[in-house]
Amino acid sequence: MPITTIIEPFRIKSVEPIRWTTREQRENLLKAAGYNLFLLAAKDVLIDLLTDSGTGAMSTEQWAGVMRGDESYAGSPSFTRFRDSVQEIFGYRHVIPTHQGRAAERILFSVMCKKGDVVPNNTHFDTTRANVEFVGAEAMDLPCAEAKNPADQHPFKGNMDVAALEQTITRVGRERIPLVMLTVTNNSGGGQPVSMANARAVSELCHKHGIPLYFDACRFAENAYFIKLREPGYSDKTPKQIAQEMFKLGDGCTMSAKKDGMANIGGFLCTNDDALAQQEKNLLILTEGYPTYGGLAGRDLEAVGIGIQEALNEDYLRYRIASTAYLGRKISEQGVPIIQPPGGHAIYIDARAFLPHVPQSQFPGVALANELYLEGGIRSVEIGTLMFDQAARMDLVRLAIPRRVYTQSHIDYVVEVILEVWQRRKQIKGLNLISGAPFLRHFSARLAPAD
Ligand code: F0G
Repeated sequence: MPITTIIEPFRIKSVEPIRWTTREQRENLLKAAGYNLFLLAAKDVLIDLLTDSGTGAMSTEQWAGVMRGDESYAGSPSFTRFRDSVQEIFGYRHVIPTHQGRAAERILFSVMCKKGDVVPNNTHFDTTRANVEFVGAEAMDLPCAEAKNPADQHPFKGNMDVAALEQTITRVGRERIPLVMLTVTNNSGGGQPVSMANARAVSELCHKHGIPLYFDACRFAENAYFIKLREPGYSDKTPKQIAQEMFKLGDGCTMSAKKDGMANIGGFLCTNDDALAQQEKNLLILTEGYPTYGGLAGRDLEAVGIGIQEALNEDYLRYRIASTAYLGRKISEQGVPIIQPPGGHAIYIDARAFLPHVPQSQFPGVALANELYLEGGIRSVEIGTLMFDQAARMDLVRLAIPRRVYTQSHIDYVVEVILEVWQRRKQIKGLNLISGAPFLRHFSARLAPAD
């Protein structure tokens, strides 16, 4: 018989203990945290699926790079290695390091957008939306029709609705659209990939109208692997070749290296436009740092330069995508409603379908996330009404899997906890909002159980 078990393609050199709490302790901790899992202390969490951002385990090679890091203020060889690695994959002329993705976003939108502009995206992530809105522009989500149905098995639900983009350009006018963005994979839409065909169609349309196309490239390696698995004509290409082909369709990108950069901090902004790059570097110096380090230590640049290459390793991607799909399959087989098919970095539970008796105004996603913590010490995140307010199309609970951190038995435990909560779903109650900031309110909001 052929061997089919997919194992973690690494062995463990250093371990970190994780800590159990009792249910009574968790009840008290949750109350003290205002029923907002962001406000919990990480030591009180057993399995932390809050995010896959900055939470991955670095490789031996990355740690070796950390030791090699050169901390020269200007012209560090660590920057040269970082830039060469980024350029090999992404191909853009200017590579501007930033401390994380949102710093790249802030600089990009400050330079390119003004009040009254419109930025179409397949789906903005929360920081991207906030940064667009902060400069007075409108962040417009144009996901494909299939993305709106969580049960739809379409292989590329991250795609942009190209017809809607064309209508938008006609309606608002090319001069009010300084750029179009494609988020790969589409995080807020369920971690779903964008196909090469869709990226090409968006690119052609943008360029016909003289509009630059930028990628939000956080999970570019996972997206490339999905293309390899699912899009005709790509099965013989390497993930790196696929990524290179995709980035050629654009004019630049923002990147959070905390995801497919396999690093704990870092990001970058790329562009082919010399004049824009100069303005971006000027802003960078104001708040991030000199253009050869951009708010990062030389050692961080090394970790990112090595990490983006490791993220494209096929053994790694096979395990990564299989592990996430396994979690999705195990719970959906028992009836738990999830966004289908499973995404790359996370499983998204459809909380409105899981808790149909909890109205949207009482945050079904938050209610479900809190129950998973109470049941098994698992921390997840709501992507729904608390995060996006009335703009939320869905109420989701995201179980994001940190890279190279948890094993198969951790995932089996997560499956058991979810199924236990599924059994008693009818008793779960919603929550009322007590306080929240005007934007990115999910980070600090406080809630209380509804009567
Ligand atoms: N774009 C996408 C698609 C993201 O998922 C994130 C971060 C960012 C931009 C911003 O990058 O955190 O480095 O500033 N997503 C994290 C998450 C926070 O949990 O999904 P950042």
